[in-house]
Amino acid sequence: MVEEEGWVKLRIILVGFGVVGQNLVKLLLSRADDIYLRYGMKPRLVATVDSKGVAVSQSGLDLQRLLEVKRFYGTVAAYHKDVQGCESADIDGENYGRCMVKEVIREIDAEVLVEATPTNLNDGEPGLSNITTAIKHGRNVVTVNKGPLALAMPSLLELAEYNGVMLRFSGTVGGGTPILEFAKHCLRGDRILSFKGILNGTTNYILSMMEDGLTFDEALNDARSKGYAEADPSLDIDGFDAAAKLVIMANWIMGMKVTMRDVRFKGIRDVRLEDILEAKKHGKVIKLIASCDESRRLKVEPMGIDKNEPLCVNGTLNAVTFTSEHSGELTVIGKGAGGMETASAILRDLIEVREAMSMGIGLNRS
Ligand SMILES: NC(=O)c1ccc[n+]([C@@H]2O[C@H](COP(=O)([O-])OP(=O)(O)OC[C@H]3O[C@@H](n4cnc5c(N)ncnc54)[C@H](OP(=O)(O)O)[C@@H]3O)[C@@H](O)[C@H]2O)c1
Repeated sequence: MVEEEGWVKLRIILVGFGVVGQNLVKLLLSRADDIYLRYGMKPRLVATVDSKGVAVSQSGLDLQRLLEVKRFYGTVAAYHKDVQGCESADIDGENYGRCMVKEVIREIDAEVLVEATPTNLNDGEPGLSNITTAIKHGRNVVTVNKGPLALAMPSLLELAEYNGVMLRFSGTVGGGTPILEFAKHCLRGDRILSFKGILNGTTNYILSMMEDGLTFDEALNDARSKGYAEADPSLDIDGFDAAAKLVIMANWIMGMKVTMRDVRFKGIRDVRLEDILEAKKHGKVIKLIASCDESRRLKVEPMGIDKNEPLCVNGTLNAVTFTSEHSGELTVIGKGAGGMETASAILRDLIEVREAMSMGIGLNRS
C-alpha cells in the first residue's frame, strides 16, 4: 500500500480549472480538517492544468495561491512566476510551465486524475485522451466531463478494469445530486426495471417559463440572461446533454453497453406554447424526459407527464424516478448543476477511490 506518515497518499492531477475545478480547490481548502478527521484523507494537488498552461508541485500546490494566480493572471501557469512577475526556472526540479497535458498525466506521480475540461460530444476531446492516458498509466480517474463517457463508456470501463484502477463520474449526472449512487448503492439487492428523468436543468427551466406563458424564444432568452443557457444552447435544447447522461445511467445502473448512438433523442426546439397549454387542459406538463424502459429502449423526448407526479419538478431542478422490482417507484430530486455542488460530487468520488485504495484497489502502479 502507498502510505505516507500513516495515511494513504492521495495525490491529484486536476485538468480543467474553470468553475468546477476552482470550486473543488475551494472545497479542499475549506474542508481540509474535516476531510482528514472523517475520512483519514489528506488530498494533495500536485498538478493543475488549464487551457493555457500547467502548475506543478510534487510536494503539493498552495491552493490559496493557485486560486489567486488564476484570478489575477487568468492561467495557472503563472503559479510559477514570483511576486515580481518573473518566471521561476525550476519547480520541484523541473519546469512544467509549458508542458503538454499528456506529459503531466504520464510523468507526475499521482494516484488520481480529476478531469474537468469542457464536454465535447463530437469526439470527446480533450477529456477522452486525458482519461485514457491516465488509466494506461495506472491512475484512478474521477471525471465530471460527460463527453468521453457518452461516446466510449463501455470501453473506458473495460480499460479501467484491465488496468486495475477506478473510473468514477458522480458529477456527470445530476451535478451534486447522488442519482448514480442512489441507484447503484441504495437500491443494491433490488432490481431496477426502468427509470425516467429530467436530466437537463436548462431545458426544464425553459419549459417551466413556457408554462408561465412565455414563448420558446422568450424563455430561451430569459435562461441566457440568468446564465442557465450557453450562447450556443444546442447541447441542451436539442437533447444531446440529456442523452449523454442517459447513456451514463444505462451503462452504470442497468449494466448496458451503450453509447450516444444507441439513444433516440429529440430536444425541445419544436415545443410550442400551444402544446403546453393543450397539455395543461389535461392536467399534464410537458417535460424533456430521458427514459430507459423495461425493454431497455433509450429515449429522450418532450412528453406530457401528470402534474402531480413527483417527477414533475420545475426550474433548473433535476429528478429521476426509478421503478424497482421490490421497492416500487422511488424519486430522487435535486439541483442538476452548480460549481460547488459538482465539486462535492468529485469529493464523494475521491473518498470512494481513497477507500478502495486502502483495501488495495486502484493503487498507483507507476
Ligand atoms: N458547471 C457545472 O455546473 C457542471 C456540472 C456538471 C458537470 N460539469 C462538467 O464539468 C466540466 C467542467 O465544467 P466547468 O463549468 O468547470 O467549465 P469551464 O468553467 O468552462 O472550465 C473548463 C476548464 O477547462 C480548461 N480547458 C479547456 N480546454 C482545455 C485543454 N485542452 N486542456 C486543459 N484544460 C482545458 C479551461 O481552461 P481556461 O480556464 O484556460 O479557459 C477551464 O479551466 C464540463 O465537462 C462540464 O460539462 C459542469
